[in-house]
Amino acid sequence: MTPTRLTRMLSVRYPIIQAGMSWASSNAALPAAVSNAGGLGVIAAGPMYLDAFRQAVREVKAATNGATFGVNLPLYRPAAASFLDVIEEERVPVVFASQGGPKAHLERFQRIGTRWIHVVSTIEHARKAANAGVDALVVVGSEAGGHPPANGVSTLIAVRRAAQEFSIPIVAGGGVADGFGIAALLALGADAVQLGTRFIATREAGVHDNYKRAILDTDVADTVLVGVRGLPVRMTKNRFADAVLNADRRETDDAAYDALFKSSTLKQAALDGDVERGKVELGQSAGLIHDLPSAAEVMARLVQEYEQAVARLVH
Ligand SMILES: Cc1cc2nc3c(=O)[nH]c(=O)nc-3n(C[C@H](O)[C@H](O)[C@H](O)COP(=O)(O)O)c2cc1C
Repeated sequence: MTPTRLTRMLSVRYPIIQAGMSWASSNAALPAAVSNAGGLGVIAAGPMYLDAFRQAVREVKAATNGATFGVNLPLYRPAAASFLDVIEEERVPVVFASQGGPKAHLERFQRIGTRWIHVVSTIEHARKAANAGVDALVVVGSEAGGHPPANGVSTLIAVRRAAQEFSIPIVAGGGVADGFGIAALLALGADAVQLGTRFIATREAGVHDNYKRAILDTDVADTVLVGVRGLPVRMTKNRFADAVLNADRRETDDAAYDALFKSSTLKQAALDGDVERGKVELGQSAGLIHDLPSAAEVMARLVQEYEQAVARLVH
């Protein structure tokens, strides 16, 4: 694959990033496998205890022999400051920061050579982050699993819009499960592509087998945005999703709605395997995924499919 500004900046072989995903990549196995295969593996610090996080960072370092890896950190967490200290002490090469402003942290990390990539959900947030001096932006569209932008703008539009306005590199994501999607987003102006749901359907992802099998059972129209009155999640349809969608229709009062939304968690689905009542957060791209290979196998395929996609355009 042709090098991009971001592959050069981060010293990675391919412009392919395993998106930070709570539980699925809150371990060393998945990020290490992706970084060893020439992509960028990312540990999701969100649900981790500090000691387990430090341990995972050290394990990835030990398993990858100097390959670049990253950490995804939601800044709103009360313990975020302690996680940032560990990131600094361990000299983590790349931070993907979400849900909070970058300004207060940039100087400290850029001084030691850590690249700061900021996850944004609107063009206004992107502008603020770019003005603050972040090294790159993550722009994700409504197709994405987890928390897609609430404005409903698709990846096709959001990425192109960002490429029109910003001169810093852009990581695009949401709706990509193969090398064809990677080629499409690079053509739109992205400098790398992050894939979430595709990497949950791998042997190394740290989620229950029921969750992985749910990906195989989910077709492209089987995910829904749940919790639209708050911060919605894209997840596969199940008993919990139905209950919230019913509450949307019945105009349930806010407190009851909030209580219902919080009565189910991602952990319940991801760790306990309760895929009927838990939040099975998945992107529309689940419908493009039909197997559960190793992360290295996924990486090899992504590169091959990317080459096929490009060959379709230039012959
Ligand atoms: C189960 C799950 C957990 C996620 N957790 C996080 C997270 O902790 N932090 C974050 O910034 N994004 C999180 N995301 C969003 C991903 O980083 C990524 O943007 C998204 O998965 C891309 O869409 P795709 O699933 O279609 O590839 C999560 C996504 C999923 C599916």
